[in-house]
Amino acid sequence: MIQITENQSEIVARARLIMTPNYRPQPVVFVHGEGPYLYDKDGKKYLDFSAGIAVSCLGHGHPVLTNAIAEQAKSLLHVSNLYFNQAQIDCAEALLDASFAKRVFFCNSGAEANEAGMKMARRYMRLVRKVDRFKFICTINSFHGRTWAAISATGQSHYQEGFGPLVPGFVHVPYGDAAAIEAAIDDETCAVLVEPIQGEGGLIVPDVSYLKALREICDRKGVLLMFDEVQTGVGRTGKLWAYEHSGITPDLMSIAKGLAGGVPIGALLCTEEVAKGFAPGAHASTFGGNPLACRAASTVLRVIRQEGLVEHVARVGLHLKEQINALSSRVPGCTGARGLGLLAGLGVDPKIIDRTAVIDRARELGLLLTQAGPDALRLTPPFIVGRHHIDVAVDLLERALKGEGQT
Ligand SMILES: Cc1ncc(COP(=O)(O)O)c(C=O)c1O
Repeated sequence: MIQITENQSEIVARARLIMTPNYRPQPVVFVHGEGPYLYDKDGKKYLDFSAGIAVSCLGHGHPVLTNAIAEQAKSLLHVSNLYFNQAQIDCAEALLDASFAKRVFFCNSGAEANEAGMKMARRYMRLVRKVDRFKFICTINSFHGRTWAAISATGQSHYQEGFGPLVPGFVHVPYGDAAAIEAAIDDETCAVLVEPIQGEGGLIVPDVSYLKALREICDRKGVLLMFDEVQTGVGRTGKLWAYEHSGITPDLMSIAKGLAGGVPIGALLCTEEVAKGFAPGAHASTFGGNPLACRAASTVLRVIRQEGLVEHVARVGLHLKEQINALSSRVPGCTGARGLGLLAGLGVDPKIIDRTAVIDRARELGLLLTQAGPDALRLTPPFIVGRHHIDVAVDLLERALKGEGQT
């Protein structure tokens, strides 16, 4: 039952009794957002450099997005994939126009998009090429989501603890090492699956030659190349898709996170050829391609284009990187800027800097941020931030690093 008069700590206490214990939420209840700011139940204002873990790309309450969602909700919320709906087709066309892909499958999250891609790749090999190629070459430190196949693809053992046996057929090699991928490929290999930049793994940007080399190796060996752009996609790195930095294209690509600006959605994009891996009944999602999510996604893509937000991300991302590097040189234990565009981070030595304490202190000071990998603080603001927001955020982060803010 909702109790209007409850304060924030009472709500937190209530939540702790009833939710499954798989999250570690910070003791704050957000009730409202505007642009790059969030407001909690006690009326406190925060600069949101988390953006719901790299999701809310247009910020909070963007009028064009909220109007489109409201209009769509009034006219049609859901019909399933037993029928067509125009919002889905419009969104699919917008995605295909803006990418390498010729076909799209909609789902509800990043993990599901990866699941769809891996299923498509295996089925394509077995039923179209008629070869028994089922293995995926993935990378150490990668993150691909929490379904069983996604944790099997993920190259970090703590996500797998207690869940074995995992899905068979996944091989892990060091990230950024094309020769290691080539050496791992055998005649049972179906696809290479990599993030163009490792996000959860610690904002690791490989050399530009890496993805190019993977394309060449996959072509030569008859293996598919799949990019997980769940975190890097939809403009976050200063290109609409991170693969554009490398000048090559994948065969399959999973996207989610920012795609619908905060409405749950995932999508698998692929070539005409690989799409032959699916046939009616091969894969499905009740909510996938839902009119509400698709209308939100087409609106996000249109706003990003009309407002020049990809170019803006590239510009302010450079400014953020400069400011983080300057901060890093002033604070002991910091190891420099990470990431690309607004998928940014500050490397820290975890023996010197307690990241959880810094995040708590930053929140007390009015800044939201996250962590990534074993040794980075992550800053993934909405694309609408300006230089002044960045300067304020970096100043608050520096104060938190230096011990200001109560924990
Ligand atoms: C690269 C990557 N892939 C997949 C996922 C999983 O996405 P979701 O949580 O929407 O399932 C994430 C989430 O952080 C991600 O960063």
